[in-house]
Amino acid sequence: MPDRDLLPTECLMTIAGTGSYVPERVLTNAELEKSVETSDEWITTRTGIKERRIAATGETTSDMATMAARRAMEMAGVTAPEIELIIVATITPDTIFPSTACYVQRNLGAKNAVAFDISAACSGFLYAMQISRHFINTGNRKTALIIGAEKLSSIVNWSDRNTCVLFGDGAGAAILRRRSTDEAVHEPQVLVTVMGTDGTLTDILNVPGGGSALPITAENAHLHLNTIHMQGKETFKAAVTNVTAACARAIDLAGLKPSDIDVIVPHQANVRIIDAAADRLGIPKERAFTNIHKFGNTSAAACAIALDEANRTGVIKPGNNVLLVAFGAGFTWAASVVRW
Ligand SMILES: CC(C)(COP(=O)(O)OP(=O)(O)OC[C@H]1O[C@@H](n2cnc3c(N)ncnc32)[C@H](O)[C@@H]1OP(=O)(O)O)[C@@H](O)C(=O)NCCC(=O)NCCS
Repeated sequence: MPDRDLLPTECLMTIAGTGSYVPERVLTNAELEKSVETSDEWITTRTGIKERRIAATGETTSDMATMAARRAMEMAGVTAPEIELIIVATITPDTIFPSTACYVQRNLGAKNAVAFDISAACSGFLYAMQISRHFINTGNRKTALIIGAEKLSSIVNWSDRNTCVLFGDGAGAAILRRRSTDEAVHEPQVLVTVMGTDGTLTDILNVPGGGSALPITAENAHLHLNTIHMQGKETFKAAVTNVTAACARAIDLAGLKPSDIDVIVPHQANVRIIDAAADRLGIPKERAFTNIHKFGNTSAAACAIALDEANRTGVIKPGNNVLLVAFGAGFTWAASVVRW
């Protein structure tokens, strides 16, 4: 891997607050047993998922993103006019345009923020964090709001058992700020983030239709082209390989050893992927925080929701070395080391 991830300057950014939101409606494995040929036992042993949340009718990605953002702002003690940058990572935007970030900006009344979406599938939250780092490090912006938000229930083929058991809805957010210059102030510090993309793997996980290449028409509507299509085994392999390499690289660039990592906050796609990557890195799998059993895979929201839960429940403690890692369609991946 090239050394472009190693920035010449130290990272001046802190995570000042986290927040998350999941819809009320719980969809259990037992309920899915009634609609497709599956079983709680199969889903649990293959993925670790027991239930997931589903947005209410009319509840949008931007609604969930706004709720998560408000909770992060409250924790950080940041008001809407102080936010100068909003990045929403999503593959289920409210509309093709305007961006979901524009709706969030409107909902919050964050009139001083420039707002845009990014599309990096499940890696989106960490991509957004690294983009913010560049704005904050250069002094261009002081306070950023990043959000991973998804309404995946709107792009799932509910008759395809290979995919419909995996996904859920929700949102996670973080307020990123320029670090205080006062050495006595303890703040989490983002040490290193590495990112990667392999565009040769676009076919293993995608929504093939509904974009400009293949619009949905009356003739092809029955083919479910505007839903998630996935080659499970290939996706699993690409995930383990790239997650392991990115984590090893990020840990190394942070000047740490795998044994120095206190908590891993991984993308929540499959507990077996998390265990396999931890095993290859030589980090005890008990150090990986998981909430996949409750929420399934919420794509760009997953790592952000997990970070917020681990933060609020005290799993992450001041001084801990925290490894954030995500991967997703593209193929995309990112890993970040934060000294909490
Ligand atoms: C999807 C996944 C859980 C499947 O697990 P697996 O161990 O690879 O299972 P296989 O693909 O070998 O499938 C085994 C069988 O179970 C069947 N199966 C698939 N989904 C099923 C379900 N929900 N219930 C019961 N059986 C199911 C398959 O049809 C297959 O049957 P066959 O052998 O008769 O063809 C796993 O491949 C995975 O997690 N991949 C990565 C997914 C991911 O992370 N996606 C998001 C990336 S961000």
